[in-house]
Amino acid sequence: MECRSYCKAPAVVVFVLAFSLVMLETTVSATSRMTEIASDGDLLRRNLLANGLGVTPPMGWNSWNHFACNINEKMIRETADALVSTGLSKLGYEYVNIDDCWAEIARDDKGNLVPKNSTFPSGMKALADYVHAKGLKIGIYSDAGYFTCSKTMPGSLGHEEQDAKTFAAWGIDYLKYDNCNNGNIKPTIRYPVMTRALMKAGRPIFLSLCEWGDLHPALWGDKLGNSWRTTNDINDSWESMISRADLNEIYADYARPGGWNDPDMLEVGNGGMTKDEYIVHFSLWAISKAPLLLGCDLRNLTKETKAIVTNTEVIAVNQDPLGVQAKKVRSEGDLEVWAGPLSGYRVAVVLLNRGPWRNAISAQWDDIGIPPNSNVEARDLWEHTTLKTTFVANLTATVDSHACKLYILKPIS
Ligand SMILES: *[C@@H]1O[C@H](CO)[C@@H](O)[C@H](O)[C@H]1NC(C)=O
Ligand SMILES: *[C@@H]1O[C@H](CO)[C@@H](O)[C@H](O)[C@H]1NC(C)=O
Ligand SMILES: *[C@@H]1O[C@H](CO)[C@@H](O)[C@H](O)[C@H]1NC(C)=O
Ligand SMILES: *[C@@H]1O[C@H](CO)[C@@H](O)[C@H](O)[C@H]1NC(C)=O
Repeated sequence: MECRSYCKAPAVVVFVLAFSLVMLETTVSATSRMTEIASDGDLLRRNLLANGLGVTPPMGWNSWNHFACNINEKMIRETADALVSTGLSKLGYEYVNIDDCWAEIARDDKGNLVPKNSTFPSGMKALADYVHAKGLKIGIYSDAGYFTCSKTMPGSLGHEEQDAKTFAAWGIDYLKYDNCNNGNIKPTIRYPVMTRALMKAGRPIFLSLCEWGDLHPALWGDKLGNSWRTTNDINDSWESMISRADLNEIYADYARPGGWNDPDMLEVGNGGMTKDEYIVHFSLWAISKAPLLLGCDLRNLTKETKAIVTNTEVIAVNQDPLGVQAKKVRSEGDLEVWAGPLSGYRVAVVLLNRGPWRNAISAQWDDIGIPPNSNVEARDLWEHTTLKTTFVANLTATVDSHACKLYILKPIS
């Protein structure tokens, strides 16, 4: 195999330099804006968002991928029930996140957002209380624009402080903040206003910047949010899923505890991919330290879907305390190796076959950061077995089409 990681490095440098020039104007105005924001209170200078959240990538569920606008308080409560009854909550899936379409089109006469009477008649405080009583957390959605993407409810642009206070008063724990209908105002101007508003609202609220990767939010999002989308929306297809993973990988160096790259929510269980493809989806999200937000109907999980999303060994890779996002370290045609360090001098490795035929793929110690002559123990996280032989110099496996292997490698001598 030819190694492309070396050849790739200069391209990335050129890209970043070119991008820095393009961003100069934006950065200057954003910087003066941030200085202005930082000087108006005791807020942290380096990082506007000091909420202590997202030490590991968030885990939970979001309504959009399966339900889009067809949401109501009954199904949100049933989903909270299901998170507990399926055992998912014990594995770390804690957020119940309501996406677009939860509010009336008009604010009330005081300018407050109003939950949609026909679908959320009990209101958001009651729903938050219900979710909290189950030991879970609740997330909500707004938009750094005049309307949300559905255009069925207002966005928060110009109402940031009022809406942040409303969310805090309801007991909201997580805000997904979208990018539609934004009046062509730069995101580096719009997003910090909500960050500051949340910091003033008196409740730690995870802030998920949903800027779609338009202006490379990995380069500025860490000061403003706990995660930032690096891509446009995912859909339930192999091409969409794998291309989100690729786009997200470019920014691997910017992820860290407290701030994560977000290639969008999971489609596992929605029916558009094969079992192997969903295993690739879950494996890549896990090693990429992506948010693990389930996007299917949890009230009737199939055995197959449940087996994928409850794999505790794979979840542990995602939640590893080191918090380092894996990278694509070797690629030849359709065959790829993705790898990233874990705590305890271990390495997580995905052998990924994107092509139409079964093929052998090798992880070379050289590529994945293991010293050359190390003797290595390999744990297969989907087979749940520790391989009987140990390995020197490389680990090679045969991988089916649109499938992957996921190992933890541990040097033992
Ligand atoms: C909400 O809807 C119910 C009927 O579903 C109606 O009786 C009630 O007046 C509505 N409340 C508001 C504030 O519109
Ligand atoms: C899903 O995304 C892929 C790739 O991004 C695109 O080609 C396809 O048209 C999309 N499918 C749907 C149903 O939107
Ligand atoms: C899943 O469960 C919900 C609620 O029980 C039900 O409305 C829905 O039709 C079910 N879907 C399938 C595919 O069985
Ligand atoms: C893997 O390493 C072994 C030595 O342990 C060597 O014989 C073999 O050729 C290597 N295979 C690949 C594909 O690099």
